[in-house]
Amino acid sequence: PSAEESESSEESEPDDTPAMEQAEAGAGTVAAHLLPAPLQAADESPAPRTQAPPAGTPAPPAAASAPTRPPVKPAVFIPVNRSPEMQEERLKLPILSEEQVIMEAVAEHPVVIVCGETGSGKTTQVPQFLYEAGYGSDNSVIGVTEPRRVAAIAMSQRVAKEMNLSQRIVSYQIRYEGNVTEDTRIKFMTDGVLLKEIQKDFLLLRYKVVIIDEAHERSVYTDILIGLLSRIVSLRAKRHLPLKLLIMSATLRVEDFTQNQRLFPEPPPVIKVESRQFPVTVHFNKRTPLQDYSGECFRKVCKIHRMLPAGGILVFLTGQAEVHALCRRLRKAFPPPRARPQGKEDQEDSVEEMRKFKKSRARAKKARAEALPQINLDHYSVLPAGEGDEDREAEMDDEEGAVGSDLDLDLGDDGMDGGEQPDASLPLHVLPLYSLLAPEKQAQVFKPPPEGTRLCVVATNVAETSLTIPGIKYVVDCGKVKKRYYDRVTGVSSFRVTWVSQASADQRAGRAGRTEPGHCYRLYSSAVFGDFEQFPPPEITRRPVEDLILQMKALNIEKVINFPFPTPPSVEALIAAEDLLIALGALQAPQKTERVKQLQSSRLSRPITALGRTMAAFPVAPRYAKMLALSRQHGCLPYAITIVAAMTVRELFEELDRPAASEEELAKLKGRRARVAQMKRTWAGQGASLKLGDLMVLLGAVGACEYAGCTPQFCEANGLRYKAIMETRRLRGQLTTAVNAVCPEAGLFMDPKMQPPTESQVTYLRQIVTAGLGDHLARRVQSEELLDAKWRNAYKTPLLDDPVFIHPSSVLFKELPEFVVYQEIVETTKMYMKGVCAVEVQWIPSLLPSYCQFDKPLEEPAPAYCAETGRVLCHRASTFYRVGWPLPAVQVD
Ligand code: CDP
Ligand code: MG
Repeated sequence: PSAEESESSEESEPDDTPAMEQAEAGAGTVAAHLLPAPLQAADESPAPRTQAPPAGTPAPPAAASAPTRPPVKPAVFIPVNRSPEMQEERLKLPILSEEQVIMEAVAEHPVVIVCGETGSGKTTQVPQFLYEAGYGSDNSVIGVTEPRRVAAIAMSQRVAKEMNLSQRIVSYQIRYEGNVTEDTRIKFMTDGVLLKEIQKDFLLLRYKVVIIDEAHERSVYTDILIGLLSRIVSLRAKRHLPLKLLIMSATLRVEDFTQNQRLFPEPPPVIKVESRQFPVTVHFNKRTPLQDYSGECFRKVCKIHRMLPAGGILVFLTGQAEVHALCRRLRKAFPPPRARPQGKEDQEDSVEEMRKFKKSRARAKKARAEALPQINLDHYSVLPAGEGDEDREAEMDDEEGAVGSDLDLDLGDDGMDGGEQPDASLPLHVLPLYSLLAPEKQAQVFKPPPEGTRLCVVATNVAETSLTIPGIKYVVDCGKVKKRYYDRVTGVSSFRVTWVSQASADQRAGRAGRTEPGHCYRLYSSAVFGDFEQFPPPEITRRPVEDLILQMKALNIEKVINFPFPTPPSVEALIAAEDLLIALGALQAPQKTERVKQLQSSRLSRPITALGRTMAAFPVAPRYAKMLALSRQHGCLPYAITIVAAMTVRELFEELDRPAASEEELAKLKGRRARVAQMKRTWAGQGASLKLGDLMVLLGAVGACEYAGCTPQFCEANGLRYKAIMETRRLRGQLTTAVNAVCPEAGLFMDPKMQPPTESQVTYLRQIVTAGLGDHLARRVQSEELLDAKWRNAYKTPLLDDPVFIHPSSVLFKELPEFVVYQEIVETTKMYMKGVCAVEVQWIPSLLPSYCQFDKPLEEPAPAYCAETGRVLCHRASTFYRVGWPLPAVQVD
C-alpha cells in the first residue's frame, strides 16, 4: 500500500493530504473543508494543464466558489459511425431529445442528476453523448458504475454494438473478469470495482467523467461512491482537472442527493427525462397473500398464455432457484416446438415423431394438472454478515409449487383486449434472468423470440430497473423480494423474502407498458399493497458496515461519522463495525490511559493500523481478511486462501435438506445425503485434521475437486455445486494476486492442486481461523449448567440468549468440542452453527485477548499476535508444551 500511496502523491500537490485530513478533522460541511483557504493561493499560479478549456465559455454558477475559470467544455466532437438502423432505433428513445440539455448541464456543473423512467435510454445513451463530446479523449476514460454485474456486462455489449465499436473500446470490468484494454474509452463496471480504484488513485485521474448509474437502488457501494465522489470532484476542481459526476436514477426520489447539504452544498441540477409510457392496467388478486407464490405465478402465466393476445410475459420472483424451478415447470407445460426431422428419413420418422409429440403433449398436460405440495417460502435462512457483492443472491429452497384451489381470476374480463384471439398452442419461449446467470444466457432475453413463440422471462428483481427487456406486455408480480436483513444485537444477518415497496411494485408494473399498453398481474390484494412501505429503505441502513468502514479507513477517512453518506448508517451499526475492527486489530485500540472524555471523542474515529491496511487490500469480509493477513507462516497461505475463498463463495455443497416431492425423489435425496455425508467425513479426516471441522471439509472438497480436474461430473457425484467450485477457484486466484501485491516477497503462485496440509499446519490454520472468527466463539454448555432439556448439547454465545447447536450437516455434530468458532448461524427449527471449527481453550486468552477479561495483567509479552505485523507470536514455548502443542515459537519482527 505504501507504494501506491507514494505513487498517487507524486501527482498530488504537496498540501493535498493535509487538506484531506483537515477535512476529516473538523466539524461542518465537507465542502467547507474541501475548498480551504489555500485555494486562492493555488489559483494565482496559473496551471493550465492538458484539458485547457476553449475560450469564451461563461463561468458556471455552480463553480462559483471554485477558481474562476471557464468550465471544461470539450471542443472536440468525436464522430461515431452507427448503422442507420441503430441510429433510427436510438432516435426513438426519449433521452435523445434531452441530449443538448444534459450536455450543457454537464459542461456547466460539476455534478448533474439525470432522472428518467427505466428504458428511457439513460444507461445506453448518456455514455455515448459524453463520448461524442470528447470526454473519452486524451486517453481518459468515461466510467459508468452499475450495482449489478449483469448490467455492467450487458450494457457494455449493447453500447459497443450501438456505437459500432469493439469491446476493446467499450468494455466492462466486474469482480472476476473484464475486457478492459489500453484503448478502453467507456468502461462499465460494478460499483465495488470503482471503489477499489479509488483506493489506488484517490483522484481517479484516468477519468474525466464518472457516471453512477441506478443510484435509486441505493446499494451500499453506490452510496459510498457518491459520498466519496462529492469530495473527489472538489479536489479535482482545485487542481484544475475537473471531474464531472453524473448521477442517474430511475425513480424520482432524489431528495437524499439534492437536499443534502453535507453531500452537495450546492444542490446539483436535476434533469428529468420525460418518457412515453403506455398505460398499464393493474390487476390485483382478490384474495390476499399466498404462501405459494411460485405456483401462483405458474398458473397466471399459463392463463395469460392460453387466453391473452400476443405479447411477452415478464415474471418477477425472488431468487435464482425459484426462477429455475418456474422455468422448468413452464417448459414442461409448454414444450418448445419439436425440430422437424431432416432428409430422407422424413417419411418414416414422421409417424414416430407424431407419436412422440402426442406423448410429450400428454405428459405436459399431466404436469399441468399435477398438484404438488409447496413448502412455506416465507421462512428465511440466516447467512453470515457483510460479504461480497449484494448481487450474490442467496439461494432459497423453492420446490415446484402446488396448484391448490384454482383461483377464479377474471382474466377474461379485464385482461383481454378483445379482437385477436390468442393461439393456445403457441409454444412459450421461456428464459431465466438473474444476476449470476452466465452473460451469454443473459443476452438471450434481448433477442426477439423465435418466430411463432411467445417470450416469457422469469426474472429476479434485476429486471426491475437495471435491464429493459423488449416486447413485454404482461407482468406477473409475486410482490416479493429477497433482501438481506441484519440483526444489530446479535450480528446475525439473514436473507428474507418480504413484500416489496410500493415504488418497486409500480416500477415492476411499468415494465409492461414500454411498447404498447400492458397489463400487470399482482399476486396480492390491493389491501396488502396499501400496507407496503412507500420506498425500499437504502441498503446501508440494513446491513453491517464493517467492510465499508475498513475500506473508508484505508482511504484515510478517519471520522466516518462525518462522512457525507446520502443516508447515514445508524450510529449503533457504526459502533458495532468499529468495535469488531478494533477487536480484529484493524483499527487502533484505545489506550488504557485514555480518559472517558478522550474515549468518547475518539469514538468512531480510530485510525487504521498496518494490519488494517493489509486487510483492506483483500476483497473479502474483514474477518476473513484477518485470516489471510495472519497466514503467511508455516506455509499456511494457500490453505487459508482456499478456506477463505470457499467461505466467501458460500454453499459449496448442494442443498439436500429440501423436502422431496415424491417417494422416488426422497429415495434419491437420501442416497445423495448419505454419499455427501460420507465424503465430508473422508475430507475431514481424523484426529488433528477433524478439529478443523467443516473448514477442513471445504479444504478437502476443493483439493479433491481440483485433483479430479474440476469437472461438473465430479461435483454432481459428490453433491458439490459446480458453479460455487468455479467461483472458489477464481477467488483463490484473485486472493493470490492480492497477497502478492501486499507482500511481493511471499512469491505465491496458485497451484490449484495443493498437497494436503500437515498435521501441524492444520493446527496453525485453526488458530488463524480462531483469530478471524473470534466474535463467533461459542462454548458448550456443561452438564452441571443444564437448566432445562432445551440446552442439551447446546452452545452459548456471548450475544444470543438462546441455545445454539452445531448443524447436523457439520462433521463436528457428534464431536461436541468444548469451544468452537462458527462461520454463520442459520435459523431453521433451532439456531444452528455452520462452518464450525474446534478451538482449544488455551488459545483464547492469547489469540482473542480483546474478548477476554483478565484478573491480572497478562504476562509480558502479550498479546499473542502482533497487530502491526499480523503475525502470530507464540512467545513462551513452555506454555505450548503444557497444552501439548509441540511447535517452536514464531519469530516476531
Ligand atoms: O437506462 P435506462 O433504463 O433509462 O434505459 P436503457 O437501459 O439505456 O435502455 C434503452 C433502450 O435500449 C431500452 O428500450 C431497451 O429495450 C433497449 N436495449 C436493447 O434493446 N438491448 C439491450 N441489450 C439493452 C437495451
Ligand atoms: Mg439504466
